[in-house]
Amino acid sequence: MATHNDKTLSLETRLTLNDNSLMPQFGLGTWRSEPGKVQSIVKEAILNRGYRLIDGAWIYQNENEVGNGIHEALEQSQGKIKREDLFITTKLWNQHHVPEDVEWALRDSLEKLRLDYVDLYLIHWPVAFKKISENFWSQKEGEKTRLYAENVTLADTWKAMEKLVDLKLTRSIGVSNFNQSQIEEILKIARIKPSVNQIELHPYFNQHDMREYCAKNNIIITSYSPLSNLKRENESDDASALFNPVIQEIAKSKNKSTAQIIIRWHLQNGLVVIPKTVTPERLTENAHVYDFALSANEMHQIDKLGETHRRRFVNPPFNPPGDKNIFDE
Ligand SMILES: NC(=O)c1ccc[n+]([C@@H]2O[C@H](COP(=O)([O-])OP(=O)(O)OC[C@H]3O[C@@H](n4cnc5c(N)ncnc54)[C@H](OP(=O)(O)O)[C@@H]3O)[C@@H](O)[C@H]2O)c1
Repeated sequence: MATHNDKTLSLETRLTLNDNSLMPQFGLGTWRSEPGKVQSIVKEAILNRGYRLIDGAWIYQNENEVGNGIHEALEQSQGKIKREDLFITTKLWNQHHVPEDVEWALRDSLEKLRLDYVDLYLIHWPVAFKKISENFWSQKEGEKTRLYAENVTLADTWKAMEKLVDLKLTRSIGVSNFNQSQIEEILKIARIKPSVNQIELHPYFNQHDMREYCAKNNIIITSYSPLSNLKRENESDDASALFNPVIQEIAKSKNKSTAQIIIRWHLQNGLVVIPKTVTPERLTENAHVYDFALSANEMHQIDKLGETHRRRFVNPPFNPPGDKNIFDE
């Protein structure tokens, strides 16, 4: 698996996608970034902390604020930061998989973001929901997550995604939460190959097999929930790898936080990493990961946690038709 020469990594590092676009290796996530907080954190990230990649989604319901933050940063930089310096990702929600809806969905995101194009558009999940109404959130719980559209395949949706590149509404297209057989289904018919698979990946869920598969197929992985910091109700705070003693020990020896150690582990593994925060101090902390390096032994110690502490934190309440587990191969 590719690892990256420590000395070459910086906040400006970009990875080359299979369509030759350059994607920043480090960025900001925006899931559950609350309205009222997300606009200023996005602005601050871009304007003053060197972030160039912003990861969003239609379903996060905060694209208006994300867009405001992007535009404020561009305006206040007085021409120093330009739209083309940024890399904006958003995602197609499950109820928009029918080809006629795919273009509508991206145009809706673009309108909210107030952008002419995004840099990367992802199929958020390999699951197509029935569209009961345009307002997804007004639907009843079961309608939201258990009614599937049976007349649309991933290949149909992918062909509609390719048209968005032709229309110049997005530069690159990719997938998220796809397993190998779902990617194969796309590769069989693709005119434009998926450039990225965005998946849950952190020290407790290191996705070795998917990393090898994507490396072979020239697909870049973006690690989501990279800090594994998603405690469930009734769960103690220390469920996350942020509280793991091995990582704490490494952090102490380098005078860094455990979040910084984990982010650095992603970067040295050649992964794109998008930690989410709405806390200004953490925005700085998470980006300050370029003045130290993890040794091969430290990388190995963190890799091994995937065997002893293996755990997936994101388990959505929906499955593809047939009642298979969403993550089964
Ligand atoms: N494609 C998908 O299906 C999918 C699924 C999940 C996530 N994602 C994307 O990936 C992004 C990141 O994943 P995530 O938001 O699930 O989880 P994450 O980035 O691993 O963790 C975010 C949590 O960690 C906290 N945090 C951030 N920096 C910290 C630090 N230095 N020290 C301690 N705590 C810190 C944040 O709190 P504060 O904000 O309060 O600071 C927040 O509660 C998302 O925002 C989203 O863009 C995609």
